[in-house]
Amino acid sequence: MKLRLWVLAVSTALVASGVPREVPPDVLPANYGKVLPQGLWPNEPPAYDAAKVQLGRALYFDPLLSIDQQTSCASCHDPAKGFGDGRRVSVGSGGTTERHSPSLFNRGLGSSFAWDGRHATLSAQMLFPISSPIEMGLPLPVAVERLRASDKYAGQFERVYARPADAEALGDALAAFVVRITSGDSRVERFQGGDFAALSDLERTGLWIYESKGRCWRCHAGANFTDESLRVTGVGAREGVAREGRAAVTRADGDRGRFKVPTLRGVAHHPPYMHDGSLESLDAVVAYYDRGGERVPGDERVPGNELEPLHLSAHERTALVAFLKALSP
Ligand code: HEC
Ligand code: HEC
Repeated sequence: MKLRLWVLAVSTALVASGVPREVPPDVLPANYGKVLPQGLWPNEPPAYDAAKVQLGRALYFDPLLSIDQQTSCASCHDPAKGFGDGRRVSVGSGGTTERHSPSLFNRGLGSSFAWDGRHATLSAQMLFPISSPIEMGLPLPVAVERLRASDKYAGQFERVYARPADAEALGDALAAFVVRITSGDSRVERFQGGDFAALSDLERTGLWIYESKGRCWRCHAGANFTDESLRVTGVGAREGVAREGRAAVTRADGDRGRFKVPTLRGVAHHPPYMHDGSLESLDAVVAYYDRGGERVPGDERVPGNELEPLHLSAHERTALVAFLKALSP
C-alpha cells in the first residue's frame, strides 16, 4: 500500500513537473520514400519534391504541433510500429481516442480518409488531428503562429512555399511526406511475375484461399489490396447492434456499421487490427472471418454484415496468415 502511494506520488510529480512524454524518433533512412514501389500507382505516381518531403517529414516527427508539445504524428503513426501505434485505441494530448490508429501505408492511393471515410482528401485529413482536442489539441491559427515564430520552420516555409507558413502549406507539406509512406514490392508480386520460388508452399496455399473460398478479394481487391469501399463486417457490434460507422457522416440507416476497407499491404507490421483495435493478431483476424464475423445469440448475423462463415481447416487458416505476412516485406 505504502509503495503504491509512493509510486503514485512520483508519477504525479513527473506529470506536474512537465517531464515530456517521449515522441518516437525519426529512424527512417535519409532517402526514405524517394523511390516508390513498382506497380502500385495505376497512373503517374505523385512527383517527388525533395524540399516539401523533407519539411513534411520534420513536421511529422515534431511535437511542436500539439498543445502540450508532447504528441507528434509519429506518436500514433510510428514507423517502428508499421505507422500505427500498437495500441487498441490511441492516446493523444487530450486523452484517449475512440478509434484505433490506422497504419499510413499507401494512403497516397486512398480515395477517402478516416475509418468512416469522412475526409475527402489527404491534406484535409492532415490538419484534422492537429486541431482535434483529443489528438493534438492545437487550434490551427496557433499552430501557424508557432511555425512563423520558429527558428527552425519560418525560413523553410518561405523557401518552399514562397510565403509565410499557413494552414494550407502545413497540410500540403505533411501530405507530401505521408504519400511517400508505402508498402509494396512484396514476394507476392515476385511470385505473380513468374518467380515461383518467391512463395513457400504454405504461402501459396494462403494466396489461393485469399483468391477462392476465403473471398477476401471481394473487398481487398486490386494492386493495393483494397477497393477503398466502406463495408459492413460486424466488427465491434454489441448485442447484434452494429457500430455507427459511416452513418456518423451520412446519417443514413443503410450506412450503419460501414467502415473503410484497409489495405492488406504491410499488415503484419501493425497489430492490433480493425477500427476499434479489437483483434489482437492476424490469427484472430482470420478466425473472425472464418466464423463469418460477429454473431449474435442464435447465430444470427449483425444486420447488413456481408460475411458468411468460411469453414476453413486449421491448415488453411495458418496458410492465410502466412500469405498476409508475405505481403508485408
Ligand atoms: C492521438 C493519436 C493520433 C495523432 C497524434 C495523429 N493521428 Fe492520424 N489518426 C489517428 C486515428 C485514431 C485515426 C482514425 C480516425 C478515424 O477513423 O476517425 C487517424 C487517421 C489518420 C489518417 C487517415 C488514414 C486512413 O487510412 O484513412 C491519416 C492520413 C493520418 N491519421 C495522418 C496523421 C498525421 C499526418 C498526423 C500529424 C499531423 C496524425 N495523423 C496525428 C490517430 C492519430
Ligand atoms: C465484405 C468486405 C470484406 C471481405 C470479404 C474481407 N474484408 Fe477484411 N476488412 C474489411 C473491412 C471493412 C475492414 C475494416 C473493418 C473495421 O475496422 O470495422 C477489414 C479489415 C481487415 C483487416 C485488418 C486490417 C487493419 O489494418 O486493421 C485484415 C487483416 C483483413 N481485413 C483481412 C481479410 C482477409 C484475410 C479476408 C478474407 C478471409 C478479408 N479481410 C475479407 C472488409 C472485408
